[in-house]
Amino acid sequence: MSERLLALSEIPETGVTSVDTSIGRLAVGLSDGTPFAISPICRHLRGDLAKGHVADDGCVECPLHAARFDVKSGAMTRGPQGAFKPVAGLFKNTVGRMTLKSYPVVERDGILFLEA
Ligand code: FES
Repeated sequence: MSERLLALSEIPETGVTSVDTSIGRLAVGLSDGTPFAISPICRHLRGDLAKGHVADDGCVECPLHAARFDVKSGAMTRGPQGAFKPVAGLFKNTVGRMTLKSYPVVERDGILFLEA
């Protein structure tokens, strides 16, 4: 089964946006030119990753405390920053071990599709 997500042209400059799908809301975007779809809730304090951005390293960065997630594996690659930075490693090694769910996405003629 294939479900239309959005056109590449609809992805904002942040590199990620929210898309409602038949399996729930997902954070969908492009990382280094490769499309991705992940569960949108940060493992730290439930920030909305669809409102974050794709960082220089290709990871999605949470808009609340800047934790980062690998869009392929769903793993937290960096714990929360700011006031949480001293315990970022603790978060990364506890709640951060619960990876985000990642879904297969393909691009056809400028449109992203969720493949199930
Ligand atoms: S809620 Fe995402 S880093 Fe804090």
